[in-house]
Amino acid sequence: MRFTVLTLFPEMVLQGCSHGVVGQAVHDGKIRVETLNPRDWTTDVHHTVDDRPFGGGDGMVMLPGPLESAVAKAVSGCSVPPRKIYLSARGRPFTDQLARELVASPEVILLCGRYGGVDQRLLEAEEFEEVSIGDYVLSGGELAALVLIDAVGRHVPGVLGNALSAENESFAVGLLEHPQFTRPRQWRDLEVPEILLGGNHAKIRQWRHHLAILITAQTRPELLANLSVREVREALARLDQLAESVRRATGLKDVEGIRLRLERRLEMAVSP
Ligand code: ADE
Repeated sequence: MRFTVLTLFPEMVLQGCSHGVVGQAVHDGKIRVETLNPRDWTTDVHHTVDDRPFGGGDGMVMLPGPLESAVAKAVSGCSVPPRKIYLSARGRPFTDQLARELVASPEVILLCGRYGGVDQRLLEAEEFEEVSIGDYVLSGGELAALVLIDAVGRHVPGVLGNALSAENESFAVGLLEHPQFTRPRQWRDLEVPEILLGGNHAKIRQWRHHLAILITAQTRPELLANLSVREVREALARLDQLAESVRRATGLKDVEGIRLRLERRLEMAVSP
């Protein structure tokens, strides 16, 4: 798939896509990341890309003209109609579900705003969807575009070495990820949980699933709605045992809070 990023800071985007999993995927041609700089379509000597907002106010607004030309160039290179996304703090929240949806689009155009945003007429005339990566304001869309490319890129077939690994991560099953351990078996006075050393993969899977539920209950209880009553009941039944054996090294800090949230989830299932 290809991402065409419209940005005043192309190096920032290209550099950000040149490392790690995404860098390898770009190198292997599994994803393409290209940039277009709206400044290249300015016609005045100062290469102006922004101006003061009508009606007054802080910040500058990106001119529709240079962006229109950059969008036209991006679209003309697409073999299928592209998804057009404007990264913006007022957009629809970016989630793993949206990442999975976007991976089905061979062409994605990402528009990065700077200054006080982009002239609204350009966004509407070109039918951009607005997407936010979180409830905070960045100084430009580039970091958000990198986040999106990374999260979507991981879902492109063949990008992660082990095809299953994206399936086990946080959010893939609607839960936060279980904790991980590696060597040495004992570090400081902390032992790796015994069950992980035994080689019983069915038991390990179940243990990890229960811990994922408990961690989720602790940090993001609203995600428990993704679970069946049976799963919640099972995790609740094992709470004391899991908390006692591994509390210090698994991130389970608020056992009574976890119990309360799991019980609340069960009550909601009985009387929605
Ligand atoms: N641009 C500025 N803030 C942003 C945010 N939170 N998400 C996406 N793009 C942005």
